[in-house]
Amino acid sequence: MWTLLLFGCPGPSDSASDSPSPDSALSCEVEAPDAGVLDIEGVAACGQPIFEAYCGGCHGDDGRGTTGAESGPDLSGHVPAHTDEELAYVLLAGQGDMPASGLSNDRNAHVLAWLRATFGDYDGQGH
Ligand code: HEC
Repeated sequence: MWTLLLFGCPGPSDSASDSPSPDSALSCEVEAPDAGVLDIEGVAACGQPIFEAYCGGCHGDDGRGTTGAESGPDLSGHVPAHTDEELAYVLLAGQGDMPASGLSNDRNAHVLAWLRATFGDYDGQGH
């Protein structure tokens, strides 16, 4: 099991100055956190600690996969093979042995931005 970390993405009611995050210069708050995942402009730097906390246990903190009891594939090939819609759907609904992320839409949007920044845009090739 991995530990759920407290990181600097304060909820909508926290003001940025109250943020416990050491990296308080970075605002991870979005205007409408409940908007659709694809309607929120995620920030890759906000997505990284979320990925490490919620996804890294299976995919590795760098997203390149792990083996073992809770293993997840290396995402470097998966991310470019999917459209944003498909990736958002995997996060919201899960797929196969992967559980739904259970994250709020703004956090899913940040994670999606981190996946794109790390592994690239949809390559248009389908899969
Ligand atoms: C309990 C382990 C586990 C966790 C936690 C997990 N995944 Fe996965 N993930 C998997 C497995 C297993 C697969 C392969 C799913 C399948 O059978 O198609 C997968 C597949 C994926 C894929 C590829 C989907 C495809 O069709 O190509 C993406 C993208 C992905 N995960 C992202 C994430 C993100 C982002 C998180 C964190 C929010 C996360 N995963 C959390 C286990 C996990």
